[in-house]
Amino acid sequence: MEEELLNIKNNAVSLILDAPDLETLEGVKLQFLGRSGKLTVAIKEITKIPQERRPAVGMLANEVKTTIENTIESQASNLKSQVSKKIREDIDVTNPGIGPPLGHLHLITQAIEEISEIFKSIGFSRVRYPEVEWDWYAFGALNFPPNHPARDDWETFFINEEPDPKYGPMVLTPHTSSGQIREMQRIKPPIRMLNLAKCYRRQSDVSHTPMFHQFEGLVVDRGISITHLKGVLDFFVKSYFGEKRQSRIRPYHFEFTEPSFEVDVTCGVCNGRARLPDGQGCRLCKEGWLEMGGAGMVHPNVLKNGGIDPNTYTGFAFGWGVERVLMMKEGIEIDDLRLLYSNKLEFLEQF
Ligand code: DAH
Repeated sequence: MEEELLNIKNNAVSLILDAPDLETLEGVKLQFLGRSGKLTVAIKEITKIPQERRPAVGMLANEVKTTIENTIESQASNLKSQVSKKIREDIDVTNPGIGPPLGHLHLITQAIEEISEIFKSIGFSRVRYPEVEWDWYAFGALNFPPNHPARDDWETFFINEEPDPKYGPMVLTPHTSSGQIREMQRIKPPIRMLNLAKCYRRQSDVSHTPMFHQFEGLVVDRGISITHLKGVLDFFVKSYFGEKRQSRIRPYHFEFTEPSFEVDVTCGVCNGRARLPDGQGCRLCKEGWLEMGGAGMVHPNVLKNGGIDPNTYTGFAFGWGVERVLMMKEGIEIDDLRLLYSNKLEFLEQF
């Protein structure tokens, strides 16, 4: 029995020291220490030998087991350090590393920054007002009659709260015009406000997303006239779209401005000619013009609601969509506006 145990030990130690890798070593371990391994089986046999010899043989068996276990452990750590040394040798530390993927600002954020800079350069201050707003700021104070369709559920998101006795129900602001009244309450004229913010309407299709951005200009001072409005419009159009683009104003109707206008910009694809060089009609615009958004002279009732005397002061306002002006920029063709907010990298990486 003793001899068998010593044989097992010698045999195991030489196999362990010869193991070229961790996998082989694991195999050797099983072969001796596994459930039906050679040493395990031999230890079971000890019960069959005469009682008086058992303690001595038992001690030897334990010694053999410890030796095998220790040898396995030291061989395993040798093999592991060889592996990591090999990896270290394979790495060329002078190679340039793999750069982490670099993102960029979302194209709407880029547009917001560009638009803000243009207006800042002519003295407008960017402000922000609540996105969750009272009906009074969004509609009532802007001269909307109580039954105006914009208040309809289908256009405006209503918050499930008790209406305020004075300010009415709470809404998600459907346009940045709500900031006009808040700005007039905040400061006295001269006012040169740019309120660029998120707006919400219940609409979702290729040219609408339920959340979108508008930028609202408001200028109030003594002697402000339509010519000031037209000057600011032209400045913006040339700065944002390019020197060649022109703007025009057309009579229109808004509750909160009088007179009111729709602002058009010459089409960037056909250059305002309505025809392409090959004689085909332009497919982007109508007669060379693209609609940009609304504008007008602030209605006297709105000035009054903002606490400003309409006999002393006049003002102009405009409100346009960030997504819309971005789409009208040359070279950007997005056939479904919802893509902007889809988080698809294939789309976003193009800009
Ligand atoms: N608030 C209007 C809208 O969302 C746009 C607008 C029109 C804003 C005329 C103005 C304005 O400031 O004068 O459709």
